[in-house]
Amino acid sequence: MPAPSMDALVSLCKRRGYIFPGSEIYGGLQGTYDYGPLGVELKNNLKQAWWRANVYERDDMEGLDAAILMNPLTWRYSGHEETFVDPLVDCRDCKSRWRADHVQGVCPKCGSKNLTEPRPFNMMFKTAVGPVADENSFAYLRPETAQGIFVNFKNVLDATSRKLPFGIAQIGKAFRNEITPRNFIFRVREFEQMEIEYFVRPGEDEEWHRRWVADRMRWWQQMGLSPHNLKEYQVPADELAHYSKATVDIFYRYPIGWEEIEGIANRTDFDLGSHSRGQETLGLTARVKENRDSIEKLTYFDHVTNQHLVPYVIEPSAGVDRGCLAIMCEAYDEAPVKEAPPERVKPVADALGSFLRSAAKSERIGEEQRSALIERGEAILGDLPTALPQIQTLLGMPGADQIEVGKKLRGQAEPVVDEFFRTVLHLKPQLAPIKAAILPLKRNAEPIVACAKEIKRRLQATGRMRCVYDDTGAIGKLYRRQDEIGTPFCITVDFDTLGDKDARDKDTVTVRDRDSMTQERVPISELEEYLEERMR
Ligand code: GAP
Repeated sequence: MPAPSMDALVSLCKRRGYIFPGSEIYGGLQGTYDYGPLGVELKNNLKQAWWRANVYERDDMEGLDAAILMNPLTWRYSGHEETFVDPLVDCRDCKSRWRADHVQGVCPKCGSKNLTEPRPFNMMFKTAVGPVADENSFAYLRPETAQGIFVNFKNVLDATSRKLPFGIAQIGKAFRNEITPRNFIFRVREFEQMEIEYFVRPGEDEEWHRRWVADRMRWWQQMGLSPHNLKEYQVPADELAHYSKATVDIFYRYPIGWEEIEGIANRTDFDLGSHSRGQETLGLTARVKENRDSIEKLTYFDHVTNQHLVPYVIEPSAGVDRGCLAIMCEAYDEAPVKEAPPERVKPVADALGSFLRSAAKSERIGEEQRSALIERGEAILGDLPTALPQIQTLLGMPGADQIEVGKKLRGQAEPVVDEFFRTVLHLKPQLAPIKAAILPLKRNAEPIVACAKEIKRRLQATGRMRCVYDDTGAIGKLYRRQDEIGTPFCITVDFDTLGDKDARDKDTVTVRDRDSMTQERVPISELEEYLEERMR
């Protein structure tokens, strides 16, 4: 079962250290999030998997890491100064500001229809370069990593002597002053992209476009996304970006609905042409702005025809944050471990009912918080006992801590949820932040503790797997904690490991599989190989 709601995931991310709201102690900064100890590992693993698949495992790719700050002329010729705009409306009553295409004429905050006419708003952030801030010292924070690749096309070509077709891959931050950032890390103002610009001969572009769409669909499935939750969307001609001849978006079924995770565009010769001087000599097919500032012709010398040509570009452009979000949504599961009997569920249902009655009357929360709490709470009440684990999410929602009986509800729900359910992130082992948790069965049995710590040290010393040692609870509770953060293997050191009961078990441990919950006895000397095999 994928995540039942975005709130369930947001709550887990905060609780367990995946993702926190940005600058939270100062009231936050809208559209920014910080990746915590587990989030940074997941994100790095996803980026590494992408780099491995697209740079190391192919013969036709080079890597690049270009600067975020670029000469502003880049953005004039790329078309972003003119066209990277969203229509914006203001609500005259509550003074809030929205993207016109997100509101359908009604302010989502106060319900007023008293909105201004839409007007264009450029989404690029400006900053000053150098000590004097005047009209000549500004630069933009890049809104896409792609332009860093185009302006380096000639450098990479000269340095590597690549033949067409070949590509340049880059992972890096991008910034967009989104008018309405929303849906957790789905639409943010600072995010990361994984982009490829793949250069091909004109005429071969459509075939390469198809191949890249198929390739990228396959890769997302290898990262654990179900084919039922992925689909291709052919962007209609009137919605295409200014540079695109054709774009296929890959959509993922997030809890908020089908949304884009990656776009694969056929950018033709627009970009290399736009950034070139002497465009009239290049035989471009794209319409470009005349460029008198560039000092280069971004062409490729074709040894077959002995002529210079401007390659076409196929661009698979994926969001790291949207990728992490999709992977966590897909992996999320609230699974019953055994059936909860009605006499255990009833007191929780009663406590939830009184929580909702209290929320309806409370003067300590705003109208928006009240209706969100009641809507979610009633949905849970109607779906008990299956929805029992979602009470935790309900209690983490804004305003819930202001409802006095919330504590009682937590007290009633927690033991029942702990006994009858487990929250699991079924992450692919290669993406999981922690690969193995080493757990001593008894935390005050010195030989067991020493053995567990040594196993952790040895596994971690391989440099290929982040492990944790945890002795802070009973073994069942520790398993649950690791399930919730997606650790694929729990290694338990017990008295059998010491050979106390049966000499044949000496120096073996139990390895518990997160998904099947089955346990296997494995010799300590074979642990590394055992885990490595299952992490591929
Ligand atoms: N170079 C092409 C380009 O930037 P895009 O469709 O605007 O195309 C590519 O962006 C990907 O970047 C999107 O599919 C999405 O995954 C991610 N992305 C774009 N805007 C984003 C935002 N505000 N927050 C998070 N991710 C975003």
